[in-house]
Amino acid sequence: ATASSLRGRKVMITAGPTREALDPVRYISNHSSGKMGYALAQAALEAGAEVHLVSGPVHLQTPAGVVYHPVESAEEMLAACLAQLKACDLFIGAAAVADYRPVAVAEQKLKKGAEELMELRLTKNPDIIAQVAAQTPKPFTVGFAAETQNLLAYARSKLARKGLDMIIANDVSAPGIGFNSDENAVTLITADSETHFATQSKSILAKTLIEYIAAQLPSPSIK
Ligand code: C5P
Repeated sequence: ATASSLRGRKVMITAGPTREALDPVRYISNHSSGKMGYALAQAALEAGAEVHLVSGPVHLQTPAGVVYHPVESAEEMLAACLAQLKACDLFIGAAAVADYRPVAVAEQKLKKGAEELMELRLTKNPDIIAQVAAQTPKPFTVGFAAETQNLLAYARSKLARKGLDMIIANDVSAPGIGFNSDENAVTLITADSETHFATQSKSILAKTLIEYIAAQLPSPSIK
C-alpha cells in the first residue's frame, strides 16, 4: 500500500443505516453498524484523499480528517451526496439505505388505539447510488451488494441496473462476516473481472479494497 494512491482525489463514502421517521419519536431502520464504510473512509484518508463521509446514525468515532456529513433519512443522504458531488473522483456507497419510508411523518406522537392491527403505508426511497451514477460527469462508482443467496448473480445485475463501475458482493448469510461484524469476505466485480478476497478484518480489507480501486480509477482530468 502506498500513502499517495489517492492524493489529490476527492472521495465520497456513504455509511451506516438510514432512519425513516414515523412520528417525532419513532423510526424504521436496520442493524447496519457503519463499520465497513468507516474503515473505507479511514483507508481512503491514509491513501491521501479528501474524504467526504455521509453517514447515518452510528456508534463509531468519526475518522479525524474526514469532511463529515451526518444525516438521518435516505432523502437527507441523497441531498448531502448531490450537494457535495462536484469534482468527486470516487463514490463508494456502503450505506444500508432503507428501501422504503413511511408515506407521511405524523406531526405528533402516534397514539395507541383500540384496534389490534395497525397498517403502515410505505413509499420507495430514492436509490442514492443509482442517482450518483447517472450524473455527468460521474465519479467512479462502487456499490455493495449484501445478499443471502445467488450472491454473484444478484450483484452482477445490480452493477448493470444501477450503472456502477464496480460492486463489492458480500454473503450476509455466512456467520461471522458482513453485517455488524468486524470481519468480512467479499468478491469484487466489474464488467469484466471477478476477484475474491478471503475473510479478514474490515480495516485490513478496506485498505486492500482502496488500493485495488485506486488502481482502476481513470487518471485525473486536467483542470
Ligand atoms: O439494491 P441494494 O440496496 O441491494 O443495493 C446496495 C447498494 O446500493 C449499496 O451500495 C447501497 O449503498 C446502495 N443503495 C443506495 N440507495 C438506496 C439503496 C441502496 O445508494 N436507496
